[in-house]
Amino acid sequence: MTDVRTDGQRKRVFIRTYGCQMNVYDSDRMADVLRPLGYAMTDTPEQADLVVLNTCHIREHASEKVYSELGRLRDAKRERRAEGRDLTIAVAGCVAQAEGEEIVRRQPAVDIVVGPQAYHRLPELLAEAERKAAIRRAGKRLPGAGVLDTDFPAESKFDHLPAPQGVRAGSAFLSIQEGCDKFCTFCVVPYTRGAEYSRPAAAVLSEAHQLVAAGAIEITLLGQNVNAYHGEAADGSTWSLARLIRALAGIDGVARIRYTTSHPRDMDDDLIAAHGTVPQLMPYLHLPVQSGSDRILEAMNRRHGRDLFLGLVDRLRSARADLALSSDFIVGFPGESDADFDDTMRLVDQVGFASAFSFKYSRRPGTPGSAMPDQVPEAVKSARLAALQALLGRQAREFNISKVGATVPVLFAETGRKPGQIVGKTPWLQSVYAEGNPRLIGHIVEARLIEGHANSLAGEIVARAYEAAA
Ligand code: SAH
Ligand code: SF4
Ligand code: F3S
Repeated sequence: MTDVRTDGQRKRVFIRTYGCQMNVYDSDRMADVLRPLGYAMTDTPEQADLVVLNTCHIREHASEKVYSELGRLRDAKRERRAEGRDLTIAVAGCVAQAEGEEIVRRQPAVDIVVGPQAYHRLPELLAEAERKAAIRRAGKRLPGAGVLDTDFPAESKFDHLPAPQGVRAGSAFLSIQEGCDKFCTFCVVPYTRGAEYSRPAAAVLSEAHQLVAAGAIEITLLGQNVNAYHGEAADGSTWSLARLIRALAGIDGVARIRYTTSHPRDMDDDLIAAHGTVPQLMPYLHLPVQSGSDRILEAMNRRHGRDLFLGLVDRLRSARADLALSSDFIVGFPGESDADFDDTMRLVDQVGFASAFSFKYSRRPGTPGSAMPDQVPEAVKSARLAALQALLGRQAREFNISKVGATVPVLFAETGRKPGQIVGKTPWLQSVYAEGNPRLIGHIVEARLIEGHANSLAGEIVARAYEAAA
């Protein structure tokens, strides 16, 4: 495989990422794999020689988007071919894993289908796709078009990926745990990402050092069940997430640590205590509860009730009084009655969330929930979602307003929509926009919060912060 096109330009890859932060991390890692092959990143698909769609299968809508995008790419590929050039189309991520064969059947223009555990094999897959394309260019017919790799290989992709370069404005994701063995009855993740796997602690620490060397001051640890982490350590012991967080906090230069996504059942005492004792661990926790009804939680196979969740919230807040909580909710799970939904509304009322994601239940093929009786009508789901989102929206706004007047450290991440504005995050993951020099991007600077809105706050950078960052 050559790293230049026939016109002497470097090859370019465009990666479109759907879905969760695991996919964002994986997209960066695919870029890391492709870089040594000569691929430079581009943010315009029109300029790309290779387009990778990193897909999400979590809800029906997410999957369907992929096929419409592939239709557009097929047209682009035809136009390219008319000009004597080519466009390689790859589908990665959870739709690739779940629907591999169907993707190439529905869209023969697809060259490569690669599942989330096989990204380290991208170079071989590209070489194979290129070989097939050359045979086709020579006018020969080929049985079956795309190259598929949706195995769950015995080796971990993490052991075969090059050093990460995905640091943006001081922030980096670090994937420490993959897959899920919990089998919630609504969810495709155990099927698309495979069995639960924790990376060895030494590998995580070494990647953290690399990220810090590349400019990271904030590290967000990722996993589908990140708090189920149990990584093998050098001395043969097993590290929990709390143990790992304490070790990361000891790395010079790590100012902020976050982790996502957690399962209530895996919130152990040590981790709760870490929220009170590790200053770098940010006072924000995303802890999906899905429903406030014990009956529905049971049907979802969440393996915890409402009281366990409320108990956790109390203990977390005792460890760290200013902890901001976020969660995920599903409305309209099969069998959800008005009374069940009221339980969810009461739980939200009782806890008070700083932010949240809420969804209508989406029937996913192959999951137990999709075959359950008493599917909830669409109109009922819509009405419940609207009521829940109104409540959660009010709480988010109240939380933001509660911080007005405070001076807080903000990690600035990018320029804002208005000229002269920069935007960043507070410790509680709120967005703050302020007038500021773009030089402050990638730094933590003090800002006074002056106005709270539904999704953001206005701030004023404290003058001395300029000198500190200069
Ligand atoms: N591992 C995380 C969640 C991963 S999926 C956890 O255990 O909480 C992210 C969110 O998508 C879930 O928390 C859930 O709220 C939502 N989700 C998953 N499957 C869904 C479905 N079939 N319909 C609607 N929402 C779903
Ligand atoms: Fe899905 Fe449940 Fe696993 Fe989360 S814990 S990824 S919701 S099966
Ligand atoms: Fe979607 Fe896969 Fe993440 S289904 S939410 S991209 S794990």
